[in-house]
Amino acid sequence: MPIQRLATTPFPDQRPGTSGLRKTVPVFQTACYVENFVQSILDCIEGREGATLVLGGDGRYFNREVVQIVLRMAAANGVGRVVVGRDGLLSTPAASNLIRTRKAIGGIILSASHNPGGPHGDFGIKFNASNGGPAPEPVTEAIFRRASAITEYRTLDTPDLDLGREGETLLEGMRVEIVDPVTAYAAMMERIVDFDRIRAMVAGGFRMRFDALSAITGPYAAEILERRLGMPAGTVVNGTPLPDFGGHHPDPNPVHARELMELMTGPDAPDFGAASDGDGDRNMIVGRGLFVTPSDSLAVLAAHAHVAPGYRGGLAGVARSMPTSRAVDRVAARLGLPCYETPTGWKFFGNLLDAGRITLCGEESAGTGSNHIREKDGLWAVLLWLDIIAALGKPADRIVRDHWREYGRDYYARHDYEGVETEAADRLMTELRAALPGLVGKRFGGLTVREADDFAYSDPVDGSVTPRQGVRVLFAEDARVVFRLSGTGTSGATLRVYLERYEPADGRHDLPTADALAEVAAAADAIAGIRRHTGRDEPSVVT
Ligand code: G6P
Ligand code: ZN
Repeated sequence: MPIQRLATTPFPDQRPGTSGLRKTVPVFQTACYVENFVQSILDCIEGREGATLVLGGDGRYFNREVVQIVLRMAAANGVGRVVVGRDGLLSTPAASNLIRTRKAIGGIILSASHNPGGPHGDFGIKFNASNGGPAPEPVTEAIFRRASAITEYRTLDTPDLDLGREGETLLEGMRVEIVDPVTAYAAMMERIVDFDRIRAMVAGGFRMRFDALSAITGPYAAEILERRLGMPAGTVVNGTPLPDFGGHHPDPNPVHARELMELMTGPDAPDFGAASDGDGDRNMIVGRGLFVTPSDSLAVLAAHAHVAPGYRGGLAGVARSMPTSRAVDRVAARLGLPCYETPTGWKFFGNLLDAGRITLCGEESAGTGSNHIREKDGLWAVLLWLDIIAALGKPADRIVRDHWREYGRDYYARHDYEGVETEAADRLMTELRAALPGLVGKRFGGLTVREADDFAYSDPVDGSVTPRQGVRVLFAEDARVVFRLSGTGTSGATLRVYLERYEPADGRHDLPTADALAEVAAAADAIAGIRRHTGRDEPSVVT
């Protein structure tokens, strides 16, 4: 079968964002749109000839078609072997694991993460490097430059492969290895957490609900929670991945996982609740009557991870993204661990993990992970929580309250202003940046600005500097507000305002979050002119 070289012209908008190229499905369906981007990725993989590539996606609408396109193009570009999940499915963490364990040169992951799917929803293509993590900036920039100048792509004229059965088949010279998406991932989890201990807790009557939001983690959670850990059938709800996620917005937060929140705050709440997102890398943790913020979750995991077999030797260090609350910093300080502050985006943890400087890391955007792979990992976080609950013999809500009694509580909320006009959002950030030098010492209500800057990250491993990652304003009263624009949206701009305020160990830990943060929110508006610039009286989403 001769390789086809087909002429094409570039699209100007193929610059990958925080996490790969994300656009609406109709954009991806434009003739040559997928092909251009995939060819650009392949062109940027040095040594792809004969190498192994991992491929899979979260099963959203268009996943099947794009898997077939990528297979043909990979074969036409000389790739030696593609390890693909059965039916083209792989959660992001499972893909990261396969890239590492199969010594692949990288992986192509099809997902728009937590964005809604379906014919009018979002789609995405992301390239992960041989360490299993999202490609670093120089690589995504190279892909963008390639895509901006592309003139032809290579493919084959072959029928679709049947991806429904495990095993190996040949596509011209390339081996296509179809694997069960769950097996290797589940085996890895058995090495990290103590399944026997959790099984014993389940046998003792412990009950939980896991809401897969009709996205990729359903089969993973059913296998691990129900089959391997012995939880009753029905523990996993919305467990079948659907192309449109059954209309769910697969973002595990109190707003989008409302049913789970209602259950956990109602009279029939089980001991523990959890959810994951479209591609399985985010997590949501809920105790009985208590939503655990991702920032608090990271702090609790850092404080107790050593009870799990995977972390028995202790942690090398921890990291959090800049807008994530400083709760984990307090744990690190007490344990004498290095604590790094990185820009938003999982890729920034990669170097720290590869260099062995950190073991755990996390972000306010519901991502938590460790050195077991190079992506955040939703189900892993749930399992580590379960192991900690089993080891401490305390329910999640008690663990969190005890944590606050020991370290104090960082009240935390994120206010999102979605669909803001791009110019208005840019103007807000420009004015804010310009105002920074004059902010220190100014008072806003009862708060006094102590420091204010535009966060720039110096990577301690490779020395690279990433400037302009968001504005931080720190108040003398141990409160903080962070402003940044989302890097993952597909239309307009989203302004994110992150608010936090510390309450010491002997302080008040039972205030409604909105009350605890009211003064910080007012200061944020006064500083940035949110209403003035966006015309909005209130955020679209508060999480
Ligand atoms: C993706 C990345 C995360 C990041 C998040 C931020 O999910 O994988 O690492 O925290 O995007 O999204 P944002 O919309 O705030 O740029
Ligand atoms: Zn995700």
